[in-house]
Amino acid sequence: MLTAEEATDSGEAVASNPQTRRRETWGSRLAFVLAAAGSAIGLGNVWRFPYLVGKNGGAAFLIIYLAIVVLIGLPVMIAEVGLGRFTRRNPVGAFARAAPNSGWRVVGVLGVITGFGILSYYSVVAGWAIGYTLKAVTGAFATLTDPGQTGNLFEQFVGDAWTVLALHAVFMALTVAAVIGGVRRGIERWTLILMPALFLMLLLLVLRSLTLDGAGKGFTFYLQPDFSKVTGATFIAALGQALFSLSVGMGALITYGSYLSEREDVVIATASVCLLDTLAAFLAGLAIFPALFAVGLEPAQGAGLTFVVLPAIFHRIPFGGLFGTVFFVLLTVAALTSAISLLEVCVAYLTDEKRWTRKGACVLVGIVSFLLGIPAALSTGASPFFSQLPFLHVGYLDLMDTIFGNIALTLGALLLCLFVGWRWVPQDALKGVIEGSAYPGLGQHWLFLVRYVCPVAIGTILLQILMNLFVQG
Ligand code: PFF
Repeated sequence: MLTAEEATDSGEAVASNPQTRRRETWGSRLAFVLAAAGSAIGLGNVWRFPYLVGKNGGAAFLIIYLAIVVLIGLPVMIAEVGLGRFTRRNPVGAFARAAPNSGWRVVGVLGVITGFGILSYYSVVAGWAIGYTLKAVTGAFATLTDPGQTGNLFEQFVGDAWTVLALHAVFMALTVAAVIGGVRRGIERWTLILMPALFLMLLLLVLRSLTLDGAGKGFTFYLQPDFSKVTGATFIAALGQALFSLSVGMGALITYGSYLSEREDVVIATASVCLLDTLAAFLAGLAIFPALFAVGLEPAQGAGLTFVVLPAIFHRIPFGGLFGTVFFVLLTVAALTSAISLLEVCVAYLTDEKRWTRKGACVLVGIVSFLLGIPAALSTGASPFFSQLPFLHVGYLDLMDTIFGNIALTLGALLLCLFVGWRWVPQDALKGVIEGSAYPGLGQHWLFLVRYVCPVAIGTILLQILMNLFVQG
């Protein structure tokens, strides 16, 4: 029988009573970095980042994005991970512990609800990626060469209720299967396999794309610096993308940080996550644009890029079938490691605060989130009602993304900065962040950014998002 301390070190949860149950920890810093990078690298990296770069001045946008990641994204991430590690709790418990008897735990509640909300529709889109993997394997794109045809195929596919629901269920079941094993035997084991595989697939695709005849034009579109395209809107786009892409604002990193040992350097671990996330996004663009321009197609963004434009190129490039399959497996894997973190936030809350068993929490959250995602699955053609909601004039999936993926995440990030910068005792905040650090002097700079720079920048985007909503109606 292990003592509690030994059990913590070996990463096993002991005793059935959660009060005495020791918290699991990651087996190594690498495990934390890969799991957090897995959360960060997702659909946002593949279908949004490359397009934003191409449209907003290429390398000029890239420089701005990098500066924003370092000055705003990284400090907010460090704040989340530090809060999690200091309190060793899920988002609700973390705020409650750091500021007992205050209303701040509501921010944690917002985070858990946001994670749950995002998971419900993220799983639907990830299900499409599974479906398209099967299509690529069975050669369904073999005769399709223009986006008109692949557009029809996509419309038919997402309008078929049973297919999208079944794939949504399969993806949710995979997510539950990964999380149910716990931190070491579940999340860590899965990410240690999936993340290296993801980078390998990405590199393979980049090689294929860059070696095609005519790839240069895509390369130019993607990276040629054009500072004339940089406006205030460019900064807002870069900041919005950075927050979503780094998975900040809903407590995924509080939760992952709560499993991080005091011996680890939060700043270095978190900076590595930022680097991997940005690298993956950058590589996704290198995999997509040169290939697209080589066959003479126009880029798009979002689902249109990945499910309509890209399938039209596979038939035209050597070994296209294979690369098509690799691309959709990559997309599925990227989505899976993000969904794992979304589910883990809810599961950590239920096991910490409500004393549920991990198994019960995983299965129940998986089922309820699946049910909440049904209208999203039906909102892309199968049900006219959910495709165009009365009065709101948007589809259910878009509505969920606006509420959870956009507004709630940004609000969460803002409140987190205000809490860590102004409400949490500064000594504790600093301790949470610099304990185990090789560069403790960085703590003061970090605190400055979290207090002043981050709230102003994130508050500005939140205002912008709300004003856009208001103006659009
Ligand atoms: N970062 C993910 C992406 O880029 O697709 C999305 C995401 C996952 C946001 C997990 C927030 C989160 F907690």
